Amino acid sequence: MSRSQTIILVSLVASILSSAFAVLASANQFSAIAQDNNSNSEKKLVGGHAMGYSAYETSGDVLDPVNNDGKMGKDAVMNPEKYLRSFNYGRISTSPNGTTVREFTLVADDRQTMEISPGVSYNVWTFNGTVPGPTLRATEGDIIRIKFINNGTMPHTIHTHGIHKAEMDGVFEIINPGGQYIYEFRAEQFGVYPYHCHVQPLEQHISHGLYGAYIVDPKTPRPPADEMVMIMNGFDTDFDTENNFYGVNTIPYYYMHHPIEIEKDRLVRVYLVNMLEFDQINNLHLHGNLYDLYRSGTSLEPDELTDMVTMSQGERGILEFNYRYPGQYMFHAHKTEFAEKGWTGLFMVKDSSETQQIASSGGGR
Ligand code: CU
Ligand code: CU
Repeated sequence: MSRSQTIILVSLVASILSSAFAVLASANQFSAIAQDNNSNSEKKLVGGHAMGYSAYETSGDVLDPVNNDGKMGKDAVMNPEKYLRSFNYGRISTSPNGTTVREFTLVADDRQTMEISPGVSYNVWTFNGTVPGPTLRATEGDIIRIKFINNGTMPHTIHTHGIHKAEMDGVFEIINPGGQYIYEFRAEQFGVYPYHCHVQPLEQHISHGLYGAYIVDPKTPRPPADEMVMIMNGFDTDFDTENNFYGVNTIPYYYMHHPIEIEKDRLVRVYLVNMLEFDQINNLHLHGNLYDLYRSGTSLEPDELTDMVTMSQGERGILEFNYRYPGQYMFHAHKTEFAEKGWTGLFMVKDSSETQQIASSGGGR
């Protein structure tokens, strides 16, 4: 990115912070607006993004891009609402010996500048136009065929975690701009896996967004559940190899403003993948509940009953839980810095039996 683009980005961030300041000040909710006693400290007022959470002062590097209710523009790099419960099962056919064949097309691009947080644009590198790329899904034993098209300006590949031949590993067969490649392998060992570009410098290709999730279901399916995908990620918007934004499914604070609705007593299954670049660890803490954790999703027996999982980059797992009590519950990184830079969301647990009762009694008034 050029120096002038960097300046535009920095000024965008500055204007977000200053407008947050103005909104909070005009709302008059916070009596103590940043009183800067020490002229060198340059404290900023941030926060106030959720009920019960007030604004606070900090001299640290905290960005709070939520003063406009998390509304994203038309050029948003993804729609977290849609992405959450979308699974791409591919174009299905049957091979002569009766095996299910699933064909996917993934197109890499590195030329787009899109919105990654309200008012913040960034040069995203995408599979099929979004960060993360689509969630690929198959059943154990299926043949996976991924037609890869490099529509970008630099070399890219697709490296899928799992069992396959060396030439299907997306490491040494570098696909140049305009090139194509067909990756073919069997969906082996059920579980949840990341896929990502494996061209060097790797941290550049990953931090710009070339990754996604790949799910292999066991032959006997897991029990029915409300299923969703969460990819923990972040963005380094000032190119100092430290992330400025964190989240699940790209947009900071999105699920804080748009809580994920789930039903009381219904099983929820989260396929969780950590693709965060630069930071050593990431984690997910769930409020008011515990979840069964299936590390890598490769077993049908849970490894742990917990409210906390910590993962390094590339690690993943399946989380299963149901809520006994309706209401709003947070989920967020228990690394406080990440939570305060956007990696925070809400589950809204609804009691559908209550809703039905109100409807059947013609009530609601
Ligand atoms: Cu790449
Ligand atoms: Cu990897």
